[in-house]
Amino acid sequence: MSESPIEVVDNAGVVRLTISRPKALNALNSDVLSELERVLAELEARDDLRAVLITGAGEKSFVAGADIAEMRTKTPEEARAFARQALATLKRLETLPVPTVALVNGFCLGGGCELALACDWAVASDNAIFGQPEVLLGVIPGFGGTQRLPRRVGPAMALDLCTTGRKIDAAEALRIGLVNRVMPQAELDSYVEELTRQLGGNGPRSVRATKQAIHDGMEQDLDSALALETALFAFCFAGDEQTEGMSAFVEKRKPNF
Ligand code: CAA
Repeated sequence: MSESPIEVVDNAGVVRLTISRPKALNALNSDVLSELERVLAELEARDDLRAVLITGAGEKSFVAGADIAEMRTKTPEEARAFARQALATLKRLETLPVPTVALVNGFCLGGGCELALACDWAVASDNAIFGQPEVLLGVIPGFGGTQRLPRRVGPAMALDLCTTGRKIDAAEALRIGLVNRVMPQAELDSYVEELTRQLGGNGPRSVRATKQAIHDGMEQDLDSALALETALFAFCFAGDEQTEGMSAFVEKRKPNF
């Protein structure tokens, strides 16, 4: 059997996925998307899942886009099916019940940028390059870029990036809010360790409830969203986690979640 293009490393429920297709700068073809969807479906079912971090193999590229060689000869119907496959996979990533973080370690173009946008937040190495260059290929973003990019950086900046196809560096990505942090590539590993410690150490139910409140609340009007927050706040008091967290504070010790 050929090797999986998705490497999975599990550190007590904080799972790091590495997309590995080095010959094509980790471009997303149908096989990579199928495997990613299979891995995400497995993770989704795990009660012990705490967070998912996603990155690209090597030091040059996160993901250089959808696979152009594979797309080149597609008919409109085949293109629609390919986009639907990718959208379903990215939806699965977006709706995982735990925090998801893109670790952008190089080129993050087209479908790569769309993959990062399906994560809750992104951090980038200082050599990262971002862009939605689809118009240079005679198409538009097809993996959610025209919708998730304006929601993250605003419609004017999304139109700027998507209609010019220009590439931006990590500093500009940080300035426009496409990424949360930029660091030297050599520091990405220690960032992963820090995140693993933080996300692995916090109360898993409250972390999941936080994500649910923010994600679902953003789709609702403010009053409904505030009511959702209240319901989830109360839900947190229904388990052992809140008792342990608050008792640990009062007893001046670390909580054990
Ligand atoms: N699809 C398929 N193969 C790709 C690829 C992609 N998106 N990006 C890079 N590759 C391949 C190259 O063809 C090359 O293969 P060969 O060695 O067999 O020729 C290999 O990866 C290395 O790439 P380069 O030699 O081009 O490396 P470089 O350092 O000179 O340039 C780059 C790097 C600027 C990222 C350049 O490869 C590039 O522009 N890639 C395409 C980026 C792009 O347009 N992405 C958007 C794709 S469309 C899309 O994603 C649509 C959507 O929304 C769904």
